[in-house]
Amino acid sequence: MSLAQIKGRSLVEPEDFSLDEMENLFNLAEKIEKDEKYLRESCRGKLLATLFFEPSTRTRLSFEAAMLRLGGSCLGFAEPGSSSAAKGESLADTIRMASSYADTIVMRNPKEGSALLARNYSSVPIINAGDGGHHHPTQTLTDLLTIKRKLGKIDTLTVGFCGDLKFGRTVHSLAKALSRYNNIRMIFISPSELVLPDYIKSILKKQKIDFQEKVNLEDALKEDGIDVLYMTRVQKERFFNEDDYIRLKDTYVLNTDKMSCAKEKMIVLHPLPRVNEISVEIDNDPRASYFAQAKYGMFVRMALLASILGVV
Ligand code: CP
Repeated sequence: MSLAQIKGRSLVEPEDFSLDEMENLFNLAEKIEKDEKYLRESCRGKLLATLFFEPSTRTRLSFEAAMLRLGGSCLGFAEPGSSSAAKGESLADTIRMASSYADTIVMRNPKEGSALLARNYSSVPIINAGDGGHHHPTQTLTDLLTIKRKLGKIDTLTVGFCGDLKFGRTVHSLAKALSRYNNIRMIFISPSELVLPDYIKSILKKQKIDFQEKVNLEDALKEDGIDVLYMTRVQKERFFNEDDYIRLKDTYVLNTDKMSCAKEKMIVLHPLPRVNEISVEIDNDPRASYFAQAKYGMFVRMALLASILGVV
């Protein structure tokens, strides 16, 4: 199977690509990382539109860096107030316009399902950079590549997800994606108000995934042999009530005491941005892999753009 099969396709949900296609993307990302000149200029003349209706640092900048490193160009907006969405233009019309100017579109939007809607109105591939609390499939590519690079495999692992599992779209996408790999156990650690949505649990049950829900992070680190700890931020922007956010925001803080309960070879991932949930004292722990993860994100997005635009 070659990357040629990805040409012209959208990425809306993690399962839009097969495991073989994702493996090919990871291999290409590693090749690009090792050889800075590889694929340089391959996208000259191509245009990427980045339409961000919600804030972003990593996703937008890594996509723009990826496109510029491939020799292509970028256009778009970083907040909706500077687009005609502020005048009431519909998402469908915005997408019709952007797809008549660019060769592919990366979009982040606060509404669940917006990426699917965009795909239906676009004449070019749509890459979902986050649709509300639903999915974030390119973060999943980043997460899986990091696990592969750091642990040498994406199977036979216990993965602990900790924090806001209700609104955390990166958790939903990664849990769904991991459910397609062999021998994956999942431990979901959250306060009762922020548990994993039922529709994701149903998918895991259907896939016969061994998973448990817990409240205490320290107990999970001591008892469950976690190989990958995926920390997440409590998603302030999805709360209806600020008092609830304030009450829940610091439920989990990963610090050196808690890390002393973890496996020596465990890796700590976080999609970032972090607020307080990982103490800065952990940043120098060799198990802290979140900044490397963010950098791998650029290489895998280069691989993705080159594949979608058909230059590999
Ligand atoms: N991981 C992630 O989506 O980060 P940004 O919100 O900064 O893009």
